Amino acid sequence: MDHDTRAAFFDGTAENYDEDTFHAQVAAALVEPLPPAPGLVLDVATGTGFAAYAALRLKPARVLAVDLSPAMVARAEAKASSLDPDGRIEWRVGPAVPMPAPDGSADVVLCASSLHFLGAVAFADWLRVLKPGGRLAFSVVSGARFRPSGPFADFVPQDLSFPLDEAGAGALASSAGFVDVAAQTFTVDGGDRVRSVFLVHATAP
Ligand SMILES: C[S@@+](CC[C@H](N)C(=O)[O-])C[C@H]1O[C@@H](n2cnc3c(N)ncnc32)[C@H](O)[C@@H]1O
Repeated sequence: MDHDTRAAFFDGTAENYDEDTFHAQVAAALVEPLPPAPGLVLDVATGTGFAAYAALRLKPARVLAVDLSPAMVARAEAKASSLDPDGRIEWRVGPAVPMPAPDGSADVVLCASSLHFLGAVAFADWLRVLKPGGRLAFSVVSGARFRPSGPFADFVPQDLSFPLDEAGAGALASSAGFVDVAAQTFTVDGGDRVRSVFLVHATAP
């Protein structure tokens, strides 16, 4: 699927995206265990910016947040005056693989609720942009819960096998070459709907 078609789909979801608080909770949980004061943080497929804004808690020097959808990025930027008064986040519209960042430049790569749109090809790019010892934090949907069908299936790359358990989620990172991999299940019980994803933290060798 070409980038314009993909961007148009996500443009259509932008207006109401922030009404669902699950994605904000996933982003906050991804950032929470990361060490403070990183130099450059990359937020891959930032959407309306949940992970980029969560990363400000780490007091980074700079955050670069990239997403294909102009409407999602516009929603993200609209929150900057209240959530990023220092202007640490740079917003960019465009493909997030490859990230528009030099090799070995990033201390942290974040990818919240988006790997299933990017595919396994993203891991090689994250190894490229991270400094040795840089941290990767991503979420991934469970293959037991996520079964894309109909036109939506076209959005999901074929090169990613969705994990069934924490070991499988961690293996996505370790088989790509990351070390010190830790995976956990993150669940939110919303009463009528229980949702869960795997959170993976790993280090670039
Ligand atoms: C479910 S949203 C997640 C957004 C955000 N990371 C969050 O935690 O809420 C998926 C996002 O991936 C973006 N996306 C999909 N494919 C992309 C690509 N190839 N490059 C950049 N962004 C992409 C979409 O535009 C959308 O904003």
